[in-house]
Amino acid sequence: MTIKRKKVAVIGGGVSGLAAAKAFDDKGHRVSGFERSHDFGGVWEPSRSYPDVQTQSPKDLYCFTDHPMPDDYPEWPKGPQVHAYLHSYADKHGLARLFRLNTNVRSMDRRGDGQAGWTLTLDAEGQTRTEDFDFVAVCTGQFSDKKVLTYPGQDDFVAAGGQVMHSSEYTDSSISEGKDVVVLGGSKSATDIAVSALEKGAKSVHLVYLENVWRVPYFVGGINFKRLLYMRAQEVQFNGWGRRGPVKRALGALTQPLIWANFRGLETLLKLQLGLKKYNMVPKAPIEKEVSCSVPIVTPGFFELLKTGRIKPVIGTFERYEEGRQLRLTTGDLVACDVAILAVGWKLGVPFLPRDYQDKLIESDGQYRVYRLAVNPELPDMGFVGFNSSFCTVLSAELIANWLVRYADGQLAKQPTAKAMNENIEMMLDWKRNQRPAAKTYGGLCSAPFHFQHFDELLQDMGARKWKRSNPLAEQFGHPDAKAYGAFLATTPEYRAN
Ligand SMILES: Cc1cc2nc3c(=O)[nH]c(=O)nc-3n(C[C@H](O)[C@H](O)[C@H](O)COP(=O)(O)OP(=O)(O)OC[C@H]3O[C@@H](n4cnc5c(N)ncnc54)[C@H](O)[C@@H]3O)c2cc1C
Ligand SMILES: NC(=O)c1ccc[n+]([C@@H]2O[C@H](COP(=O)([O-])OP(=O)(O)OC[C@H]3O[C@@H](n4cnc5c(N)ncnc54)[C@H](OP(=O)(O)O)[C@@H]3O)[C@@H](O)[C@H]2O)c1
Repeated sequence: MTIKRKKVAVIGGGVSGLAAAKAFDDKGHRVSGFERSHDFGGVWEPSRSYPDVQTQSPKDLYCFTDHPMPDDYPEWPKGPQVHAYLHSYADKHGLARLFRLNTNVRSMDRRGDGQAGWTLTLDAEGQTRTEDFDFVAVCTGQFSDKKVLTYPGQDDFVAAGGQVMHSSEYTDSSISEGKDVVVLGGSKSATDIAVSALEKGAKSVHLVYLENVWRVPYFVGGINFKRLLYMRAQEVQFNGWGRRGPVKRALGALTQPLIWANFRGLETLLKLQLGLKKYNMVPKAPIEKEVSCSVPIVTPGFFELLKTGRIKPVIGTFERYEEGRQLRLTTGDLVACDVAILAVGWKLGVPFLPRDYQDKLIESDGQYRVYRLAVNPELPDMGFVGFNSSFCTVLSAELIANWLVRYADGQLAKQPTAKAMNENIEMMLDWKRNQRPAAKTYGGLCSAPFHFQHFDELLQDMGARKWKRSNPLAEQFGHPDAKAYGAFLATTPEYRAN
């Protein structure tokens, strides 16, 4: 059977755009990538993040299957190292030739010439033009468009010399020097910036956040967390989707007490190691119910700075900016503030997609309708790569990209019908809404902590002959291994479009 060579647009030049461009190019398609910034890298492009940023994922969990991170990189590489690594991947596969930088995709509309596919409206060098494509891979990430929050009194506060910025604008930490800094948010960006501000000589730092969450340190009880938490044996203890049938239910009931004890043990360890009680930072929800893509890794130095009282935590949010460079919090407290940093996250969405297609994609409660985190049957000739979070996003993007090209070419071993996809989407929505609310984070576009289950599905759909390592012990107790996944991908049927 001949598979038609398609003209494919890849929107975004971060981890996911690079993965998608390579997957479609490898199969013989004509790829045009569009990146609105001046460089590849997405969130790792230096002008997009603060100077001290480093990965949360260990380096062997944050790499492409054919391209390990360099041996001399630390276990958790710094932002510029990840950026250089992504460039080296693009160089290795000649991906730069496929991309147009400084090119923004303003909108996409169904083609008007009666052909399948989309017309993209592109802004570049002050010009706007359109171009037709047979298929579009959206790779714009979840963390591109900052969430903007304003509170009463901001204009006067700024006029009086105060500064207000989103976490992604905190690219020069020297602005904290000698200043009273207030950080809003309780996730990873917030704690990173709170620590960085003090290290750069801030006079005071308040961390204002809504509620306590479980945080995982790089080393739990002295052991690298990848050896404890990223394994099938751990993953099956969370309530994953599709666990139906009498045998699975009986097994679940039998193992429940052991699972309960395991997680209470983990909570006790975290409480003792981090001193959570002392800082009134014990989360309300049991850890097994809360683990999702939004669980932050502890910023090194964060708990030490809480201990010395230099980071002052407050549970609440901002109420208004007050005269004399002060902030009124919802707790009633009035705190000194020269710089307010809003580490409040990102706006999720596909703003360049027509409204009627957005309505088919997004439910009224903000949950996304996507099959295998990649496609929606009502949105033809397009799919997503990396429109989801995980704890090993690079590997996840590569697997989804390889799945998506086969889907686009009708070459999945289990090519799903629209009916089957919609049934699966409904099942997943029901699971998120009723069985595992933590999975609703980031619009339900999160695969953690179910990496193995998700990867198994993708590989089986692709017709892989292998999706587990031969050694059952390594498979049960080892973390997802990029090299092994490369070998699994190599067992999928080969084909080429022409
Ligand atoms: C500070 C930070 C640290 C992180 N650390 C980790 C980690 O340790 N481990 C982990 O697994 N994940 C981490 N993440 C999550 C991270 O988002 C992913 O790992 C991954 O980098 C996402 O890549 P992406 O290509 O999907 O998206 P992005 O990196 O966001 O790239 C999307 C690209 O699309 C471009 N774009 C958007 N809209 C348009 C448009 N209309 N036209 C043209 N181009 C467009 C953007 O400019 C951007 O370059 C981190 C995220 C942040 C913000
Ligand atoms: N590798 C790294 O070192 C690193 C660094 C930074 C970020 N990241 C990753 O990047 C992603 C985004 O992280 P992020 O920290 O930027 O954003 P985020 O995870 O979306 O967190 C946003 C935070 O802002 C809070 N918030 C939102 N609205 C608020 C309001 N009105 N008042 C008070 N608080 C409010 C949220 O609280 P609620 O959750 O209670 O709403 C949450 O604590 C995550 O996947 C993260 O792991 C990684």
